[in-house]
Amino acid sequence: MHARAGLILANRAFVDSAPGRHGASRPVAASGGLLAAVRPAIAPWEGGAGTTWIGAGLAGGDHELRNGGGVELVGLPQGVLRQRRLLFDHGTWAGHYAAVSNSFLWPLLHLVRLPLPDLTAYYPRPATPLPEEWAAFERVNQAFAKAASNEPAGTAWIHDYQLGLVPAMLRRLEPGRRIGFFLHTPFPNPDVAAACLDAAGLARLSTVVRGMLGADRIGFQCRPDVDRFAAWLERFEGLEPKGGSVVIEGRAVSFDAYPVGIDAAEVDQLASLPGRSPEAAEALAAGLPLVVGLERSDYTKGIPERLEAIAAALDAGSRFAYVGIAAPTRAGVAAYDRLETAIAQAATGARRAAAAAGTPFVQLRQAIPFEEVVALQREADVVFTSSLADGMNLVPLQAAVAQSRRLPERRAVLIAGRDAGISHAYGASNAPGLVSIDPLDRAATAEALRTAVAGKAPRVSDAFIREVRRNDARAWATQFLTDLEDAPC
Ligand code: F6P
Repeated sequence: MHARAGLILANRAFVDSAPGRHGASRPVAASGGLLAAVRPAIAPWEGGAGTTWIGAGLAGGDHELRNGGGVELVGLPQGVLRQRRLLFDHGTWAGHYAAVSNSFLWPLLHLVRLPLPDLTAYYPRPATPLPEEWAAFERVNQAFAKAASNEPAGTAWIHDYQLGLVPAMLRRLEPGRRIGFFLHTPFPNPDVAAACLDAAGLARLSTVVRGMLGADRIGFQCRPDVDRFAAWLERFEGLEPKGGSVVIEGRAVSFDAYPVGIDAAEVDQLASLPGRSPEAAEALAAGLPLVVGLERSDYTKGIPERLEAIAAALDAGSRFAYVGIAAPTRAGVAAYDRLETAIAQAATGARRAAAAAGTPFVQLRQAIPFEEVVALQREADVVFTSSLADGMNLVPLQAAVAQSRRLPERRAVLIAGRDAGISHAYGASNAPGLVSIDPLDRAATAEALRTAVAGKAPRVSDAFIREVRRNDARAWATQFLTDLEDAPC
């Protein structure tokens, strides 16, 4: 069975538009892990039925939609998407996106075990929003709830922290609608979060949790997120969660872990293309093992720590080529500038170590097409991720599928941070292929890299690849939506 959603709400529009030349606008497809995961849950719009996607338009095009209800039918390769694009003024969007979503909630939600702002030079302390920033966040969430309530009855599936207030707001507008919420990020450790927040910040997080509780069912990435959420409900909301369910205002809300998956068929298809990534050419020509690092340039990804481990491994005598590509993200959010300085410093050390060892080293700050990402994942001997914390981390999952084209004894070693969802979802399984590290333990991380480069760590196994394929994005969406339909209403 393959379940589809009637109404999907996500911060970003599925297809946005940017102003083109001569005033005409051109379509811009959104990208990212959330979009890729949710895509299989979209039913094409046919005969008045299918999925409606509600998301914000950011690119500034199509201003005539601002007052026109914003419904559009967009032709996509998989069929027609019915989309309702919401447009906001600059000030409202800055408060909602840069301030509350990405300077307060994003750093806060990733505090799963350790007070990361105290342990690195660049991880930002969650900034308690100013009243006007919070008001902007509420306005945007209210606009999403209102837009959803204007749609015909049917299940609404709301995604991620930017829309954390929407479930309760929609419930107030439409008490009878079935509502699901999925958090793509981790949920924080209550003690660590409390230690990093002032009283006002704590109250704001509590409001977001209350907002999420407007849903009938809440999905988290992994079991530890579920446990931390239950602990928060007990400690800060005075509620009594039991067995993955909690009663609030006479209503039962259920919650569970649904580790997100990838579009394995898409990765398979791209991995079958003959092209090589230009970045890997020098490494392959040198005949050295190829280590790759790929991600958004985010302070949760542990990029400086990885570069320091690379320098240490090279200094200790390992020989490998490194290609690191970090795509710029969230321009205008201050903490990302500090991160770039930390990356540049760590890259200078790693580049010096590589020059001394006579091995190729590249660390680029740029976005590359997804087919090049997959080509690098296919050609790598070590896929080195090092998230300090991560909802899931899809890169090693994509790499496992890309590597399936190689013989088992030639496949890569996948390295991931111990607090990334992937380490919980796959680390304990009997399917070898993933090595978990603590990126803040530089010596152990460098040693894990040395072992992987020497071919002494477990390589991606057939069993691991089978697991990744079985738990793909389609299976994830189907499981969540099926359980949501079964939830008591
Ligand atoms: O898909 C990964 C993710 O980090 C989601 O958790 C989040 O909703 C999305 O990216 C946000 O990305 P952006 O800030 O670029 O819209």
